[in-house]
Amino acid sequence: MNYIEMKSEIDRLKKEKNAIIIAHYYMRPEVQDVADYIGDSLGLARTAAKTDKQMIVFCGVDFMAETAKILMPDRDVLIPYSRAGCFLADMIIPEELNEYKEEHPNVPVVSYINTTAEIKALSDIICTSSNAVNVVKSLHTKEVIFGPDKNLAQFVADQLPEIKFHIWEGYCQVHERITVQSILEIKKRHPDAAVVVHPECTPQVIRIADFVGSTTKIINYVKDSDKKLFVIGTEIGIAHQIRKKTSGKRIIFPKATPLCYNMKTITLPRVLSALKKDQFKVSVDKKTAEKAKIVIERMLAVS
Ligand code: 13P
Ligand code: SF4
Repeated sequence: MNYIEMKSEIDRLKKEKNAIIIAHYYMRPEVQDVADYIGDSLGLARTAAKTDKQMIVFCGVDFMAETAKILMPDRDVLIPYSRAGCFLADMIIPEELNEYKEEHPNVPVVSYINTTAEIKALSDIICTSSNAVNVVKSLHTKEVIFGPDKNLAQFVADQLPEIKFHIWEGYCQVHERITVQSILEIKKRHPDAAVVVHPECTPQVIRIADFVGSTTKIINYVKDSDKKLFVIGTEIGIAHQIRKKTSGKRIIFPKATPLCYNMKTITLPRVLSALKKDQFKVSVDKKTAEKAKIVIERMLAVS
């Protein structure tokens, strides 16, 4: 079966099964092209939370699909590849967080959405790269535990100097590979290029950026800017929607292309198999899910 045949079979099965396909911007272009909705983590969670479809085929990594299942426990949430994980989410486990909480009693925990359901259940609220500053502000606190991404934490802390941040030492390997040097090399050749990066990049990279934001915000910035050339500091999959949504704009990625292998494990044949065989069903332990749901909904209320 070629991609065109696969796409039409996916469309047919989607109707038959009353399914919606939602996809993150880091998906392969051909996977994005079969999706009903493409977005950043916040947009994906919101879309999952309000769909009337019985089946949600989640083209993203496991914490994203888990979030959808927690929000919609009565729906079938499928992930086309059951081992699509996230390096960053693996950088914090419940035992470690519990110990940290004991060391910092009564300090609220803000966890990035890139965490397991267990970590969410142990948190006071979660955030995404799009709403992290507002989420922390909403707590009206003097101190906060923020994890697992140390770069996002620092980015937020810099904007809220009145709050003391206890920062978890996690990071995303894909964004850490984006270096100041690799950006400056491009700037040397194209001094007019705007540097647009994700807050998972290092503070050094963030310091030389013209704009910092979630994947959706990056796309909107490129679309609305008067500039013609952009250095993009996030995963390469975002290029597909930037190219579709903007015309006459050129984008360049830093050397050592930022590529998330986990995201790329979701292929078109696997999306088709997911719909054909109802696989792989996402499940979350009931007690954990109930606690995590409150925490996720707290964030959605802030957003
Ligand atoms: P966004 O929420 O900005 O799409 O980021 C998700 C992510 O995993 C970035 O690495
Ligand atoms: Fe996780 Fe990084 Fe991949 Fe995003 S890019 S899913 S944070 S490993």
